[in-house]
Amino acid sequence: MAKTVEQTNLIRLNKYLADHGIASRRKADEMIDEGLVQVNGRTVYELGVKIDPDKDKVKVKGKLVMAKPQLVYFVFNKPKNVVTSTADPQGRPVVLDYFKKVKKRIFPVGRLDWDTEGLLLMTNDGDFANEIAHPSSKVPKTYHAKLDGIPNDEKLQKLTKGVSIVGGKVKALKVKKLSSRGSDKKAWIEITITEGKNRQVKKMFEKIGFSVVKLKRVSIGSLKLAGLKPGDYRPMTQKDLENLFK
Ligand code: URA
Repeated sequence: MAKTVEQTNLIRLNKYLADHGIASRRKADEMIDEGLVQVNGRTVYELGVKIDPDKDKVKVKGKLVMAKPQLVYFVFNKPKNVVTSTADPQGRPVVLDYFKKVKKRIFPVGRLDWDTEGLLLMTNDGDFANEIAHPSSKVPKTYHAKLDGIPNDEKLQKLTKGVSIVGGKVKALKVKKLSSRGSDKKAWIEITITEGKNRQVKKMFEKIGFSVVKLKRVSIGSLKLAGLKPGDYRPMTQKDLENLFK
């Protein structure tokens, strides 16, 4: 492990793990904290530690981290009743089950609830995952929500003005009724948010007195589900990647 500041080739251990497709930087910090990471045979617990990628040997859960993998990116239509995780201690279906043919250590970017379906990105690029999930990225995410009733315009406007939920104040970038869909007792609403707080859409509608009975994410930035059936995925194109933050 590097000790001197004169060396120039040093990078943070969490970045090294993210660059090698092990996990996002935040998740890598958790792994370090849990004592799963060894550098040159010693378990490392310090989060800020730097290593020399050319000299130091890094192991995760006893397995040597190998050369940088090819980075891959997928657009996935997550079905409902699937956990947004790579493994589940309770043995429930997880998103990774749908990627058996992909022989890379991919993971989901952010998360959708168990009962939410729709667009989820999967990758082995930890930096990309960080960038999208970071609150400062403000990538708009659009959802279609079916409610247990019909809110009037005044109530919907509250969402664009801002509401306080557990986790802070949030506001929708856009809200509109999708009047042509479903029964007349339960409204379908399109809502676009830029924050990514836990269960944010459900909590926002709860705040104006409605429960979400179905939730589907239909876009992230300029990327749309566009015909992908639940359980299907496709690789992201170079254009998708370039346009995502536009
Ligand atoms: N908001 C929610 O409430 N649930 C999701 O799965 C995503 C956003």
